Amino acid sequence: MPGEFHVVLGVSGSIAAYKAADIVRLMTGRGWRVSVMMTQSATRYVGPLTFQALTGRVVAHGRFEDLPDSVYAHIDLAQDTDAILLAPATANLLAKIAHGLADDIVTATVLARSVPLIVAPAMNDRMWANPATQDNLALLRARGVQVLNVEHGELACGRMGAGRLLPPEQIVEAVARLLDAAEPI
Ligand SMILES: Cc1cc2nc3c(=O)[nH]c(=O)nc-3n(C[C@H](O)[C@H](O)[C@H](O)COP(=O)(O)O)c2cc1C
Repeated sequence: MPGEFHVVLGVSGSIAAYKAADIVRLMTGRGWRVSVMMTQSATRYVGPLTFQALTGRVVAHGRFEDLPDSVYAHIDLAQDTDAILLAPATANLLAKIAHGLADDIVTATVLARSVPLIVAPAMNDRMWANPATQDNLALLRARGVQVLNVEHGELACGRMGAGRLLPPEQIVEAVARLLDAAEPI
């Protein structure tokens, strides 16, 4: 459909990965076309079939030798989109994209993009507070990546602290603001 927004969602290996299904539903509910890509680790938490059913599109995941569709899936995903959202974004994924690694579909797509990138981190409070993570986030912000905050509360590991994924509604609202500032393709 001409004029509709297309968002690529990258899901990584956080316990919050199941919340990405709600994020997809909220985005498709706004009439956006959504494509999901996953790290290999993320597929241990949620099956690609869940996202395939919610989006009606093949879900590219993992390393290149496992990709189902086009051999240039990372280029296709990076080019045919208005924005890329990483949610949840693990400490590992943030470190990789901050340093330009491209060893799976998610990191390679991020590296090949020319569209805005927005990340919603989720992790244990000590991982979040670690200077390595904070330095990586500062690097990403300095390059124009929109880094969403995390929530303070009870974490999956049982600790209280900062590191919870922002609620899906707030994440999608932030993407909507980003898209409103851009013209649909
Ligand atoms: C049960 C469990 C939950 C995890 N949750 C998180 C998380 O919320 N955030 C995070 O950064 N890492 C988390 N990890 C660690 C990541 O899964 C690990 O760093 C993995 O290599 C990330 O891979 P990816 O970034 O390619 O998806 C968790 C690990 C386990 C076993």
